[in-house]
Amino acid sequence: MGWIQSFTCITACVLLLQQSTVSAMPMNEPRALIKRGATLTGKFLHITDIHIDPKYLEGADPDNYCHRHGKKRSSESGKYGALGTRCDSPVALVKTAFDFLKKEIRDIDFIIYTGDTVRHDRDDDLPRTKKDVIDGHTSVMKYFQSAYDLKHTPYIPTIGNNDAFGHNDVVKNDKIFTSLKTIWSPLSLNLTQAFSSGGYFVQDIVPDKLSVINLNSMYFFEKNSDVADCSSSTSPATVQMKWLESTLKEFKSKGNGHQVYMMSHVPPIDDDGSKLYKDSCYSQYLNLLGNYGSIIAGHFNGHTNNDNLNAVIPDGKKDFTYIAADDKDARDLKSTLAKSAVALFNAPSIIPVHNPALRVYTYDIEGKDYPYGTIRNWEQYYIDLDDANNGGPVEFKLEYDATHLYGVDHFDGAGVGQAITNIVSNDKSRDLYKKYAQVSS
Ligand SMILES: *[C@@H]1O[C@H](CO)[C@@H](O)[C@H](O)[C@H]1NC(C)=O
Repeated sequence: MGWIQSFTCITACVLLLQQSTVSAMPMNEPRALIKRGATLTGKFLHITDIHIDPKYLEGADPDNYCHRHGKKRSSESGKYGALGTRCDSPVALVKTAFDFLKKEIRDIDFIIYTGDTVRHDRDDDLPRTKKDVIDGHTSVMKYFQSAYDLKHTPYIPTIGNNDAFGHNDVVKNDKIFTSLKTIWSPLSLNLTQAFSSGGYFVQDIVPDKLSVINLNSMYFFEKNSDVADCSSSTSPATVQMKWLESTLKEFKSKGNGHQVYMMSHVPPIDDDGSKLYKDSCYSQYLNLLGNYGSIIAGHFNGHTNNDNLNAVIPDGKKDFTYIAADDKDARDLKSTLAKSAVALFNAPSIIPVHNPALRVYTYDIEGKDYPYGTIRNWEQYYIDLDDANNGGPVEFKLEYDATHLYGVDHFDGAGVGQAITNIVSNDKSRDLYKKYAQVSS
């Protein structure tokens, strides 16, 4: 064999070899996060708004965002945070939360995290750098990795309004998407082209039964002035809304009971009832929730720091609106509430705007009495921050249990309608709801 022939052979053989490895081992082929046939506990964790701040200083002045001391030592900014101020979360608080998860919250199938990882960019004397943003995401990722084996307890994060390089402003093909793709790469998430261009994705959780639609709410968020609203056909907001509709349509057309969770950082509705989305996006979004309620087993947000429950209800014409669990008008809306489409779960934060909190949901894994994935209960945990800062116990304790508070054991459309009816028709329950909305702070 001459050298040219052997050279050709070697090249061809190497090529062949490469090809066969590629087809035999589809690297990173996205799959459902939970293996087919795995034993499930029927519980998952929802945590939100960690806002870790390595620059937090115990005793520093809350007027300086707890970054610098004032004339005298502040009694507000304790070791575990400064309750109700504009300071972010000290590392000690974040550690406490993950120690609790590591020790006490073991029996969960997966984790959803509704974003706002990085500290706020509020302090003009300490502007947030790109490196600060990346470091925030990287460190929180490490906390999750240290508390759980994420191969067995998958972790699904999303993007908050303080998670990109600029506050609130997330654009098409935003650079943060590329950075997060790298930071989240150990999670084997289905970060396809939709994520690279828009920061949203759909991911199977339980094969053939439950998926999550993870939205980039920054495109709908009224405060994002860099993106046009949903009346512009070329806006990234419209592109995402169309994608959402076709994704929901696809799941619905399966007709096999496959359910979806929807998650994102900013909810459509604020804790005072005002809209957080641009008008055109808000109405389109609520109508999608209303029209696809039969396949949406849960809708999860953070951002407001409050613990709220809302229901998407028909508005009596042809559109959908919402009602809050403590709205007195709900007393006269029994028949409308019975037709509720979806429950909107807003979980309170780790950042101590109120007492730091996290929750564990129980979801339906039978799919017999209620659709698969239906929320059956949740346990709300919190730290009494003043106690913790003043030498008391530094521990998360149970604040309430949703089935007891709301008097129902299923939070599908009909269930959440009943839950709201129960809250508004009992003054004691309504007072409790209001107290818990602020995490007993
Ligand atoms: C990944 O996303 C695509 C759409 O971008 C979807 O069709 C596919 O089912 C998803 N795969 C998994 C495993 O979730």
